[in-house]
Amino acid sequence: MGALASGHTPLMSVPGELWSVYAQRDSRNRELVQVPTGRRVSFDELLASANPAIASEVDEEAFKRKFQSIQGGLQALRQRFSEISPDVVVMFGDDQSELFFDDNYPQISIYWGETMKMLPRVMAPDASDALRIAMASYGDRERDYPIDSELALHLIEQLQERECDISHSRYLRSEYGGSIGPSTWYLDSQFETEDRPFGMPHAFSYPITNWFDGKEVPIVPITINTCYPPNWISPPRAYNLGLAVREIVDSWESDKRVVFACSGGVLATLW
Ligand SMILES: [Fe+2]
Repeated sequence: MGALASGHTPLMSVPGELWSVYAQRDSRNRELVQVPTGRRVSFDELLASANPAIASEVDEEAFKRKFQSIQGGLQALRQRFSEISPDVVVMFGDDQSELFFDDNYPQISIYWGETMKMLPRVMAPDASDALRIAMASYGDRERDYPIDSELALHLIEQLQERECDISHSRYLRSEYGGSIGPSTWYLDSQFETEDRPFGMPHAFSYPITNWFDGKEVPIVPITINTCYPPNWISPPRAYNLGLAVREIVDSWESDKRVVFACSGGVLATLW
């Protein structure tokens, strides 16, 4: 058993030379929050309150240096993944207006179909190279990715035994779309997503495409709502969920080598 994790911000995929291009999206980000007040702010407000020392890190040489450092970290993850050579990967991830919307947004959901479709993102003809590179983490071809349905079902059943409310899903619809917000705290606007075909969310596809080292190891995708009030998961509940999942996997009667994995992180708010 082991555990691997990384961020999945586009800055981990987009070369440093293109960071400034990708950053042009930041001014349109509606989910910027000031620390420590928790107040939602505009890009300009956030910029005005930023530590001026950050300016010394905002140049192409620094971006290229940071990107290279990130690639070193990803290579270490790839190597470790291969060394462990897991039979199944239990993954934790969030969903950012991909499969879940306000018509029915679960706090915790486990997918237990036999496979989950991975779909490359369809880009607008005028999409920047930076955006194309960032979206490559959804995969470069359509394919049905294997799920360890047996362990996924075992987790669903055993978590219920432990008074943990679990949503489940076992197939993908042909299209997904809807709205999210406005809600409490920072989420003071509504954003709409047109119905579109959609496959595996990026929290799961990023590790597969970036540090599974080309291996098609079956996964168990556990989606937790980390982003959107009012039913986002609290840190204690997320922690206890992790403990419960660990115990359940420990007592699973199987010889399979299980690894835990997740991707996300604060930089993912740049998405
Ligand atoms: Fe993300």
